[in-house]
Amino acid sequence: MRFELRDITRRFGDNVAVNAVSLDIPQGEMVGVIGRSGAGKSTLLRMINRLVQPSSGSIHFGDAEVSSLRGRALRDWQRDCAMIFQQFNLVPRLDVLTNVLLGRLNHRPTTLSILNYFTREERIMAIAALERLGIEQTALQPAGTLSGGQQQRVAIARALMQEPKMVLADEPIASLDPLNAKIVMDALRDINVREGITVITNLHTLDTARTYCDRIIGMAQGSVVFDGRPEALTADIVRQIYGANADGSGIDEGMTSTSIEISRPKATAARQVAGFRPLAAADA
Ligand SMILES: Nc1ncnc2c1ncn2[C@@H]1O[C@H](COP(=O)(O)OP(=O)(O)OP(=O)(O)O)[C@@H](O)[C@H]1O
Ligand SMILES: [Mg+2]
Repeated sequence: MRFELRDITRRFGDNVAVNAVSLDIPQGEMVGVIGRSGAGKSTLLRMINRLVQPSSGSIHFGDAEVSSLRGRALRDWQRDCAMIFQQFNLVPRLDVLTNVLLGRLNHRPTTLSILNYFTREERIMAIAALERLGIEQTALQPAGTLSGGQQQRVAIARALMQEPKMVLADEPIASLDPLNAKIVMDALRDINVREGITVITNLHTLDTARTYCDRIIGMAQGSVVFDGRPEALTADIVRQIYGANADGSGIDEGMTSTSIEISRPKATAARQVAGFRPLAAADA
């Protein structure tokens, strides 16, 4: 199913956060959105999920005009495009299993869905999602007691419970160390490849976008300044997206990596990542 943004703009007062963005995203693509702080990346994702309303323009999915959905149809859309956040957004005092089951709430006819009311099938589905992400042993622990990397995997399991057509991830690895960042990105890529779910993810690490995404969208001051395959992202374009340094020096990819990666020699981080165990065996 084809997903399309047509001339989408969002203003906050005089500030144009997203400026006339048009995109056509085929089902099953993995798209990385990059750009400086304030470029409009989060606003763009939030408009897709309708957490933020566009000031003008329209959003289409197949024959449906997403930007005009209301009520039940809007909730269905929000179920179809699951959100993953930098800060995980779990309920810390609830156990992991219940957090994952919360992904089913929008499958219910009313908001009367009671926590104890999940079906056997849903519980099995939740355990399977946790197993897939290699964290089934944490099922009965309060979510708040897990490491950041584990919590983000719980959030991905919760997203899978929504049986989404699209996953929108806003800086999903910005709070994680390089090893957990790799686990989480591998998991997102896996659901993209295996289920054909479209993934659109904001990333402030250019190297991650290059490694994982089929397509990179570069934003600057609300506008799309690059849209293409990672190979087409030249140093010149990277400078356009991120802006030159005050002293005129160029921008290297490390600069756009996570702070943890910057603070250690890149080769060390790469070696650690390369030597890491497969997803299912990970217990970071
Ligand atoms: N709710 C809001 N009210 C007012 N201004 C907002 C709001 N949300 C975003 N903005 C403004 O819109 C612009 C784009 O913000 P946005 O959060 O989309 O950027 P971003 O690219 O996600 O940045 P970051 O990399 O820091 O997350 C910024 O100038 C921001 O201050
Ligand atoms: Mg943001």
